[in-house]
Amino acid sequence: MKKLPQTINLTLKVWRQQGSQDKGRFEEIPVKNVSVHMSFIELLDTVNEQLTIEGKDPIAFDNDCREGICGACGAVVDGQAHGPEKATTLCQLHMRKFSDGDKIVVEPFRARAYKVVKDLVVDRSALDKVIQAGGYISVNTGGSPDANALPIPQIMADKAMDAAACIGCGACVAACPSASAMLFVSAKISQFALLPQGKPEAAKRAIAMVSTMDACGFGNCSNHRECENTCPKEISIVNIARMNREFFKASFISEEN
Ligand code: SF4
Ligand code: FES
Repeated sequence: MKKLPQTINLTLKVWRQQGSQDKGRFEEIPVKNVSVHMSFIELLDTVNEQLTIEGKDPIAFDNDCREGICGACGAVVDGQAHGPEKATTLCQLHMRKFSDGDKIVVEPFRARAYKVVKDLVVDRSALDKVIQAGGYISVNTGGSPDANALPIPQIMADKAMDAAACIGCGACVAACPSASAMLFVSAKISQFALLPQGKPEAAKRAIAMVSTMDACGFGNCSNHRECENTCPKEISIVNIARMNREFFKASFISEEN
């Protein structure tokens, strides 16, 4: 059996931008002896070590947990948000996915609602604003014994759990041709709308979160399904249909609309 190489040489074509007012440009950086076992974030660490030794400005990028659960990391790699591996965050993408001699293009998530802070770091606080508008439960749901006393059909619990897998990375927005945040917002609405504890505030929540999403400058869903295809947690667009139903239902009963 042919042995795969343990190290590869690459060229990183990376976006460099000092801030939202700067025009930005690509910079090509050759990187030698990259271990195929590294994650993409570790590759950026290695490049930054190299740049620092050379007295150059390291590449700014976001990350935290490095295990696919916090949603902090993210960049567009070769035209795909989070890179070419399906259902994988940038921090879980490994260099074995690439070949010796590759030129890898790395850009920030681009969307009207995301301003570039520096290089690959974008301001995703618009997503936080949507959560602040209604992504919580404020009614008293009692303690753990009360939760256990409330029977929930398994299928509803599973659907709510699937929606709750959204890590808020915002890649769906970057992948969408309309820069829509509907997959993200629909996951956050669905995780509560499917459970009895979320019902009392469902109407208020749907209107507040959808209105804030619109006010933040996100686009509308155009049914391209790029969001679903890109999502590292495989959030289904079925949630968008549910969000639309929740919003229309709320519009009929709410005085706020
Ligand atoms: S829906 Fe998927 S891509 Fe969008 S924020 Fe949630 S985890 Fe990220
Ligand atoms: S660093 Fe937390 S998901 Fe990638």
